[in-house]
Amino acid sequence: KTITLIGAPIEEGSGRRGAAMGPTALRIAGIDTVLAELGHTVHDEGDVRPLPARDLANHPRANNLQMVAAFARALNDAVHDVARKGHFPIILGGDHALSMGSVSGMARHADAVGRPLFVLWLDAHADFNSPVTSPSGNMHGMPVAFFCGEAEFAPILASDRPLVDPTRVYQIGIRSVDAREREEIAEHGVNVYDMRAVDEIGMAHIMRQILDEVRAANGLLHVSLDVDFMDPEIAPGVGTTVPGGATFREAHLIMEMLCDSDLVSSLDVVELNPFLDDRGKSARVLVELTASLFGRRILDRPTRSA
Ligand code: ARG
Ligand code: MN
Ligand code: MN
Ligand code: MN
Repeated sequence: KTITLIGAPIEEGSGRRGAAMGPTALRIAGIDTVLAELGHTVHDEGDVRPLPARDLANHPRANNLQMVAAFARALNDAVHDVARKGHFPIILGGDHALSMGSVSGMARHADAVGRPLFVLWLDAHADFNSPVTSPSGNMHGMPVAFFCGEAEFAPILASDRPLVDPTRVYQIGIRSVDAREREEIAEHGVNVYDMRAVDEIGMAHIMRQILDEVRAANGLLHVSLDVDFMDPEIAPGVGTTVPGGATFREAHLIMEMLCDSDLVSSLDVVELNPFLDDRGKSARVLVELTASLFGRRILDRPTRSA
């Protein structure tokens, strides 16, 4: 594959500093060389560095709206351009607000090629808040509602842009949902496999269900990987740790099954906060997971399956 890396050093969507160092840490952990060693062609576009969107008024319940909107606009275009060229965009975050732009860019691309866009959201959080429902006002808790058209409180992107159908959003690993967010995800039919579902039915079964549905619909699949999807024991470098997350093997199994499916069109790696990390541990885990998504396997042949 031809892969284009796009750095998105945004931290204004989270409630603290540090995630802006995420793209640098992922590069230092070797994301480009690992992918090249797997036989892919890798272009690194460097970081997008947008100016704040001064056309938007500050909003009391959407913290740092101008900076978040600036990244959303820049990534909406950058990701769309990469996908249109037939390349695979990997967005190096940066907090999860960046997915407002990356997923919207992929929704444009999917619309242009006449295929439905599915989103696999790997996260402790549902990120389906809006300024009305959010307890914090932090916009990294709002991207899913935004790209589904359920957080249209300001003209961040055009209101007639292609949206994602919330019934094509699949979330795995969820274990922290706010009260009003809970009502929203139920009302809009988001497919949530919370940690209890992972425990009860198992990751392999969950992934087969999701991949079957994407394949049957001839969909494109965007994967958005939040560091806090993993248990804090294996990935501590994130500002919003929640105990009881996915294990190392559960996370790799997802990536291995995604690789075998060949359905994935684009990837966000988000919420890495190197300032909180333990000697690069989380950055390395993310690079290894990306390697599994792009063809690294334990044995040199497809593994036997039941
Ligand atoms: N639900 C909380 C909020 O909206 C936390 C969101 C955390 N999101 C994230 N991408 N880490 O404030
Ligand atoms: Mn998130
Ligand atoms: Mn999260
Ligand atoms: Mn609603």
